[in-house]
Amino acid sequence: MNSNKRYGAWWLRMAAVYLVVGVSLGNYMGATHDFGLRSVHAHVNLLGWASMLGFGLVAQQWADTLSPRLVALQFWLHQLALPAMLSALAALMRGVTAAEPLVGLGSAVVGLAVLAFAANVWLGTGAKLRAA
Ligand code: HEM
Ligand code: HEM
Repeated sequence: MNSNKRYGAWWLRMAAVYLVVGVSLGNYMGATHDFGLRSVHAHVNLLGWASMLGFGLVAQQWADTLSPRLVALQFWLHQLALPAMLSALAALMRGVTAAEPLVGLGSAVVGLAVLAFAANVWLGTGAKLRAA
C-alpha cells in the first residue's frame, strides 16, 4: 500500500481517538458545570478530530501526488506535539503556570506541521493542475 494511504488511515484512526476524548471532556464539562478546560476541549476537537479528519481524507484522496516524506513529517510532528501542547494547556488552565513554555513549544511545532501540510497540498495540487 502507498505510504500516504497508510498515513491517511492512521490520521483517521487518531481523529476518532481525539473525538472520543473531546466529546468525553465536553460531557464532563456539561455534567459538572466546570468549564475551566473549555479551550482544551475546543482544541482536542478542532486540532484533534476535525483537523485530523481533514488530513486523513486529503492523504487518502491525493495519495498519488503528495510527497510521502512531507506526509510522514507532518504526521509525526503533529502527533507528538499535540498531546504535549494540550496536556500542558490543561495544566496551565488548572493553575500550573510552569506549563506555559510547553504550551508555546507544542503550539510552535503544531504550526510547523501545519506548514508542512500546506506546502504539500500546494505542491501536490500544482502537479495535478499541470497534468489537467
Ligand atoms: C457531546 C459532545 C459535546 C459536548 C457535551 C460539548 C460540550 C461543550 C461545553 C459544555 C462547552 C463549554 C461552553 C461554555 O463554556 O459556555 C463547549 C465548548 C466548545 N465546544 Fe464542545 N461539546 C461537544 C462536542 C464538541 C465538538 C465535536 C466540537 C468540535 C468539532 C466542539 C467544539 C467546541 C468549541 C469550539 C467550544 C468553545 C466555544 C466557545 O469558546 O465559545 N464541541 N462544548
Ligand atoms: C497551534 C495551533 C493553535 C493555537 C496555538 C491556538 C490558540 C488559541 C488561543 C490562544 C485561543 C484563545 C483561548 C482563550 O481565550 O481561552 C484560541 C481559541 C480558539 N481557537 Fe485556537 N489555536 C490553534 C488552532 C486552532 C484551530 C486549527 C482551530 C479550528 C479548526 C481553532 C479554533 C479555535 C476556537 C473555536 C477558539 C475559541 C474557543 C476557545 O475559547 O477556546 N484553533 N486558540
